[in-house]
Amino acid sequence: MKEKQGENIFPVFEQIINRSKKEKLLKQKAKVIWLTGLSGSGKTTVGAAFEKELYNRGFLTQILDGDNIRTGINKNLKFSVEDRLENIRRIAEVTKLFLNCGVITINCFITPTEDIRQIARDIIGAENMIEIYISTPVEVCEQRDIKGLYKKARAGEIKNFTGISSPFEKPVHAVLEINTGELSLKESVDKLLEVVLKEITY
Ligand code: ADX
Repeated sequence: MKEKQGENIFPVFEQIINRSKKEKLLKQKAKVIWLTGLSGSGKTTVGAAFEKELYNRGFLTQILDGDNIRTGINKNLKFSVEDRLENIRRIAEVTKLFLNCGVITINCFITPTEDIRQIARDIIGAENMIEIYISTPVEVCEQRDIKGLYKKARAGEIKNFTGISSPFEKPVHAVLEINTGELSLKESVDKLLEVVLKEITY
């Protein structure tokens, strides 16, 4: 007989030491700082510099980043709307595991549409998520073109490229906007610290 998916699966919760005990151990409150923005907008650069500042203040963090996740756990996914949804769904589930472990995650993903961001929010819980819009304009990202992808997208060699041939919707839930075309790295990180520190301090 064919069994229904999930029928014989019983998640275990009671035996597992809960999040608040782990947060107490680590002396921090677990949150995800979710950086959304175009490719080349500076998400990972800002995220990495921000992580250093948190480390120096004694916080335990984990960066999750598009280019890394997409060469590992999500290497079977491309850039169709469905694959981007699945990309973010899996990342949100992974993030939840970190949060339950008391760890702060810094997520650097384009997360291009409000639908996709909503999936993350539903899985993680809005109260656990600090959404930041890295609002560097497409012209600036394209001029930087660090990975040469905008050039390829313009030449039609890459399909569905965010900001060129695939949409990016301005986030409506972001608590902070950082335009790295106008702010220095230090100014960007300082802005983040101002918003985030009070949320993660135990
Ligand atoms: S997301 O849209 O699903 O959130 P994600 O952040 O994981 O995207 O991955 C984006 C990275 O993949 C970009 O920084 C870029 O290096 C690379 N990439 C390759 N193809 C595309 C594409 N068509 N659109 C956007 N980014 C792409």
